[in-house]
Amino acid sequence: MQDKVTLIEVAPRDGFQSVIEPIATTDKLAIIKALAAAGLKHIEVGSFVSPKAIAQMADIVPVLQGVERLADDFESIVLVPNQQGAQMATEHRCQRLNFVFSASETHNLNNVNKTLQQSLEELKRVQQVVDKKEGLALRVSLATSFDCPFTGAVNPEHTLALFQQILNICPSAQLALCDTTGRAHPFAVRDLFTRALALMDEPERLIFHCHDTYGLAIANVAAAYQAGVRTFDTAVAGFGGCPFAPGASGNVATEDVVYFFESGGIDTGIDSKKLKQAIALAEQIEGAQLGGSIRLLNR
Ligand code: COA
Ligand code: ZN
Repeated sequence: MQDKVTLIEVAPRDGFQSVIEPIATTDKLAIIKALAAAGLKHIEVGSFVSPKAIAQMADIVPVLQGVERLADDFESIVLVPNQQGAQMATEHRCQRLNFVFSASETHNLNNVNKTLQQSLEELKRVQQVVDKKEGLALRVSLATSFDCPFTGAVNPEHTLALFQQILNICPSAQLALCDTTGRAHPFAVRDLFTRALALMDEPERLIFHCHDTYGLAIANVAAAYQAGVRTFDTAVAGFGGCPFAPGASGNVATEDVVYFFESGGIDTGIDSKKLKQAIALAEQIEGAQLGGSIRLLNR
């Protein structure tokens, strides 16, 4: 039987949050719908975060309302940094919360204003919120699992110890190890995922989230795949970048990952032709920094 992978589209959250000018909700919805039409069934559509921290995500409620009528098997995912965000999410229709905190204490303090211990305690409360809401599932994303923008390389022993603590708190959640800066090396990616998978009963719960800052994202996806990972975060048109960190780039491009797997005989379930519509819409967003390779060949 042909091997399969699952792609989780994250441009509407990780990509859009890097654009300072507000993107119209209708433009966000048009891209999300084009992505869904291309076969992307799992889309991170935004986040419940403080609008003072990230104003671009302030329209999460109308975005969620706009995706309600997508296919029955469509999963909308929202990022939450705390119990407050999780509680807010339960008042709307979404299928999965993505609780994020960082392996690097310094990055965690900068991003969510919490120590690692405080974030682990917060995770327990978020798990309780999820447990009480029927039809709601949880994912935990460990940012800076390989490298921190402030303190550099993160010790894999430290990341794996946190990974084990997350597994203990959330026995059925999805778990993502994130190369937030794009500085992870494929060999380190292979090693960390091999070790993480050895700690889990269900490999399908493990996700790789990566950025393409040094052009190594596809090599990193290949390394994670060879370690046994089958679920990947990707962003259409490599949408992303950070206006406050010149040189930082977006997630690995969805269309590049589709090309990589499909040309290697691995099914992604994505229709590359239909994906072009979402790419064209992403290219029209003012202030967007785009990446990826395949997109540029199709002009
Ligand atoms: N959604 C919306 N508002 C929130 C919120 C949430 N999830 N969590 C807290 N707030 C509001 C509080 O109501 C409070 O509002 P007020 O000033 O009007 O009373 C204010 O934010 C401060 O709350 P507090 O709990 O003290 O938070 P904080 O100042 O320590 O900030 C976060 C912590 C996590 C809320 C904030 O840093 C944040 O939203 N970060 C976003 C991180 C992110 O998305 N990064 C990119 C993705 S990895
Ligand atoms: Zn990211």
